[in-house]
Amino acid sequence: MKTQEIYNKAWFSLGFSKELKKGKLLQKILLETPIVLWRDEKGKAHAFLDRCPHRHMPLSTGRVKKGSLRCRYHGWAFNNTGSLIEVPGLEKGKGPSCTLKKFEIFEKEQFLWVYGDPSEKPPYGPPNLLPKNKMFRLNTKYNFEGGLFDVLENFLDPTHTHFVHKTLLRLSKTRKRISTKILHHEDGVQAVYFDEGEEANIFAKTFGKKIDKTSGRFRSPNIVVLDYLEGEKLKARIILHFTPKTSEKVEMGGSLLVKGHKFLFFPIMPFLKLMLKKLLKEDRLIIQEKYSHEKLFPTKDIYKSTEADLLGPTIKKWLLKGPRPTIKEKQREIWL
Ligand code: FES
Ligand SMILES: [Fe+2]
Repeated sequence: MKTQEIYNKAWFSLGFSKELKKGKLLQKILLETPIVLWRDEKGKAHAFLDRCPHRHMPLSTGRVKKGSLRCRYHGWAFNNTGSLIEVPGLEKGKGPSCTLKKFEIFEKEQFLWVYGDPSEKPPYGPPNLLPKNKMFRLNTKYNFEGGLFDVLENFLDPTHTHFVHKTLLRLSKTRKRISTKILHHEDGVQAVYFDEGEEANIFAKTFGKKIDKTSGRFRSPNIVVLDYLEGEKLKARIILHFTPKTSEKVEMGGSLLVKGHKFLFFPIMPFLKLMLKKLLKEDRLIIQEKYSHEKLFPTKDIYKSTEADLLGPTIKKWLLKGPRPTIKEKQREIWL
């Protein structure tokens, strides 16, 4: 399976549902392809290739009127199935038969999802990512300069935190030997970390008194889910959707979910938001620097990975070759 095929068979988040207002057009780029999003009179979302068949004007600069999408240049109008319904200057029904390329779109868990291949009916819908219990939710959006792999690995790699986020994530100067477990799933791979230690992660400590288990899961090809648990109880979850706009630009839509009533979080909200902003900025800068430096080298040498790079090598294989075998892996110990 090639990377393009893998992307064709995946659902990508194109932002939050509330970004798409009725009567407005929204342009999103997915894998170098501009897509126009809009809602019809009933509020149902639609996604088409953002190119007018007449003279290739971006349809996203046009307007929505009476449930149809009208191009800004010569006014061709399309209905919600993408069929051309009017050519101004020609009698009704005299226009050529033409239909816009339509992407399957699905609204779920506050996100707009689009299926990678517009010519295929998706055999399954987007995954369920929200926990069963109601949790307080904070959404955010962020842009990264780098490849999809660079961003995915970064958010699932705890070893960089000592260097890149040392003031926020790692209080202790000494490392601790902890055990980890790698679980291979049908749709990706997961690392579980046990007993990182009392003060290892200040961020996690805001979610519960004794977070003793954390987990980072990659769901191919574009989702990261980070869980913070007290025993078996889920205290917080971070869901990150990564959408490759181009080979070097990735948009992230993220949700932080924390157990507890929203009133509990009001006092710490400014702190939480500030912390998230700082963390994301630190990641953005390091990814950008790594990526732009890598471009200076014409040969693409293979990365030198070690046991401590828990998920990176497997993620790379998922992105290059598709599904991996579900194998059992024994426990590993690392210094974290
Ligand atoms: S380019 Fe769209 S109507 Fe002419
Ligand atoms: Fe980071």
